[in-house]
Amino acid sequence: MRLEQQGPSLLAQAPAKLNLSLNVLGRRQDGYHLLETLMVSVQLYDSLRFDPAESDELTLTATAVTPASTPLPVDDRNLILKAAQLLRAETGTNLGARIHLTKRIPSEAGMGGGSSDAATTLVALNQFWKLDLSHSQLHALAARLGSDINFFLENAPAAVCTGRGELVSPRAMCGPLHFVVVKPQSGLSTREVFQTWAKAGSGETSHTLAELETQLANGAGNESHWPLRNDLQPAAEELNPEVRGLLHRLRTVPSRGALLTGSGSACFLLCRSARHAAWVSGQVRSWRVGQVFAVRSGV
Ligand code: C5P
Repeated sequence: MRLEQQGPSLLAQAPAKLNLSLNVLGRRQDGYHLLETLMVSVQLYDSLRFDPAESDELTLTATAVTPASTPLPVDDRNLILKAAQLLRAETGTNLGARIHLTKRIPSEAGMGGGSSDAATTLVALNQFWKLDLSHSQLHALAARLGSDINFFLENAPAAVCTGRGELVSPRAMCGPLHFVVVKPQSGLSTREVFQTWAKAGSGETSHTLAELETQLANGAGNESHWPLRNDLQPAAEELNPEVRGLLHRLRTVPSRGALLTGSGSACFLLCRSARHAAWVSGQVRSWRVGQVFAVRSGV
């Protein structure tokens, strides 16, 4: 994430993420699943603007840049307001803020947009309201709000996330990666995808991250195929035929690999270079199967 003070306002950019591997290790007693996932931050950003408010007013307004399959909630269901309210409850401050969100990261896509917005809100309001909470205090609040928020709080280009996703270990990358991301018209609910995975009785993962981590750290030859894996992909394909059809088509494009990100419904191709990604995105746009983004890794 990036923050910039502009007069009395604080402007923030909240990046998206892609999961290059997502291994489900088992199920916890509380219903959450134990994960081991390698995530990279990508340079597609939601923008948040924090303005001072009269008294204790705390409001959220939003502009959607790209068409959404479901309307964007700007009430208490939005993680931005949940994060702001949690900060107020924990610190006892009654300061207010007027928050405006410009939404570019598709929702119900597995790209972490809502989680990134929440992490950015925690960091931005900690600064805006001069709360002086430490990094580890913000991590504790992030884990209470959701599973992916800690990754964005860490502001690392890449990380292995474990537990239910909230334990973050940053990883070095040999250089930027280039992707084409496609978000089909319909989205997927994370909860439903995990439920479908559980019903299928797929059991624990058979993969490890070792090979992928080595490739991430050392780079790989231009033509090589990366060991991209997502244990949730079969469940997402079962729930959403658009995802199945899209992945089938993406596999026909020469690339380092095609995969579902998180619980979907967005899928991506790992490309060889920025030029390759620009060329591929042109091809994929002509299919008219949803929103297409050519993005590179980075916070
Ligand atoms: O934590 P978050 O709110 O992002 O998760 C949304 C839903 O996804 C959870 O309510 C849960 O049903 C499912 N989930 C899970 N195991 C995880 C993360 C999420 O079952 N590790």
